[in-house]
Amino acid sequence: MATNFSPCSSSATNLLPSSYIKNEKTVLFSRFAVTVPRKSTGVTQIHSRVQGRKYSHIQSSNGHPVNAVPLKDGLDGNLIAKEHDKSHGKEKLGIPVSEAEKEESTLSITVVGASGDLAKKKIFPALFALFYEDWLPENFTVFGYARTKLNDEELRNMISGTLTCRINQRENCEDKMDRFLKRCFYHAGQYDSEGDFSELDSKLKEKEAGKISNRLFYLSIPPNIFVDVVRSVSLRASSSNGWTRVIVEKPFGRDSESSGELTRCLKQYLTEDQIFRIDHYLGKELVENLSVLRFSNLVFEPLWSRDYIRNVQLIFSEDFGTEGRGGYFDNYGIIRDIMQNHLLQILALFAMETPVSLDAEDVRNEKVKVLRSMKPLKLGDVIVGQYKGHSKSGKSYPAYTDDPTVPKGSLTPTFAAAALFINNARWDGVPFLMKAGKALHTRRAEVRVQFRHVPGNLYKRNFGTDLDLATNELVLRVQPDEAIYLRINNKVPGLGMRLDRSDLNLLYSARYPREIPDAYERLLLDAIAGERRLFIRSDELDAAWALFTPMLKELEEKKIVPELYPHGSRGPVGAHYLAAKYNVRWGDLGGDDS
Ligand code: BG6
Repeated sequence: MATNFSPCSSSATNLLPSSYIKNEKTVLFSRFAVTVPRKSTGVTQIHSRVQGRKYSHIQSSNGHPVNAVPLKDGLDGNLIAKEHDKSHGKEKLGIPVSEAEKEESTLSITVVGASGDLAKKKIFPALFALFYEDWLPENFTVFGYARTKLNDEELRNMISGTLTCRINQRENCEDKMDRFLKRCFYHAGQYDSEGDFSELDSKLKEKEAGKISNRLFYLSIPPNIFVDVVRSVSLRASSSNGWTRVIVEKPFGRDSESSGELTRCLKQYLTEDQIFRIDHYLGKELVENLSVLRFSNLVFEPLWSRDYIRNVQLIFSEDFGTEGRGGYFDNYGIIRDIMQNHLLQILALFAMETPVSLDAEDVRNEKVKVLRSMKPLKLGDVIVGQYKGHSKSGKSYPAYTDDPTVPKGSLTPTFAAAALFINNARWDGVPFLMKAGKALHTRRAEVRVQFRHVPGNLYKRNFGTDLDLATNELVLRVQPDEAIYLRINNKVPGLGMRLDRSDLNLLYSARYPREIPDAYERLLLDAIAGERRLFIRSDELDAAWALFTPMLKELEEKKIVPELYPHGSRGPVGAHYLAAKYNVRWGDLGGDDS
């Protein structure tokens, strides 16, 4: 395992894939000496000025009109920024801003690592979807940046191969696609070359044509080169009169130490407000809806505590294995890949106290409080598993260690279950059970809330001896087939008194005909708008790592052997014992949902 690294140092050799990128062997952080770079002077930030055809009604994800979002990435002393603030201020006060003023500014989005899997599968399609739906401002360009020598046309061909009209019934898809592709350009360069980024800067300036330039850089690259790129962006390619923001993909380190070091290095060049740490689960529709459900429905919020909730389950499963991503995955394992970020973020949103407002800092303050109130995670409250080969109906499915990019004899978990607790008045004693696994029998992500028994239930005779079966359960199915359903006890119609468990079911596809946007669309739009609520602040990240790091270290030091489970199965039985220890049954494995 790569535990020794220096994220501040340069390493353009052995460039490796980010968490989505497949078929390449991953080495995580470089082991080169730390270089202490000059403090950046080149980054100027001013308030967001997204100007699009939906300009008058663009909203960021917290429902604020984009230009009314209070942003903090302005440098106080910057004259231009102050000038610019005046018109921003006008909009905040509802004073109309003229078309001429809107057209003054440009937006350029540079995808660094443009030839990688994540860029092809998620970032370019999300940008196209935003363009298709008129969410992007009038003056925008998209730049691809990578080492591969391509020209603009070749980049366009590459991205058009993966662009689809998300909403397949829509008209003018081809036409829109052509128009989008005309805004896409490419610049080949090394990741550690300030000279190459200077050239990019010249190309950006050419497109910006003297207007106020806002620049968003999406780092779709491996973490060992984050800092090299950020240095070059900051010194050579940041905007001189608009804002500069950088989206960073996980992994943000692999423990408290490495994550802290990465943050320290990034902050040599960027302010916290310029760093947008993405966790794409926060952009998912149902995760976004969690707070709406709880805070704007009287029937839920009063129940949201240890008084009524018996346990909460956060479940992630995939029905495929690492499939060529073993190089990346083997350095991380499922706990770092899914639990420490995606599931923990959902937990924090679920369990936080009511924030003062929906503003990013208010929400993130509450999330940090929850994370810092969590009881240290013990190895005894974690079970790990790894999938083994399996044959079914004449087809054989490989073991994790059959992946050629995985070292033989690897102990990296592809499955884990954990019991977590929050030491505060609201949640004292309530188990928050997490379960995440690859190569399981189904693909699913959900939050399940199991409520307590009804005291002195008048109908208990109708439930037989197993009262657990009669408790209410609220399920938020994040994917697939987004839904919220509430399991209730109901009388089966007819004479006599027979009860069953039925669902009050809000199935999104039945209720809302509109297709749900991809998480990356929401998050990109928010980054453009300067809305930080759905991005991870550095103290959140620290708290998340503080919770998992001691347990991860112990797991690795003790070389705990994962329990093997067949590819395509329901995972190791250890997960059932762990749940049983806290008197819990996994909701996804019983009855109708299994
Ligand atoms: C990524 C993980 O963050 O999330 C992957 O690195 C995982 O291992 C992916 O497959 C799952 O995302 P989604 O949106 O497909 O559920």
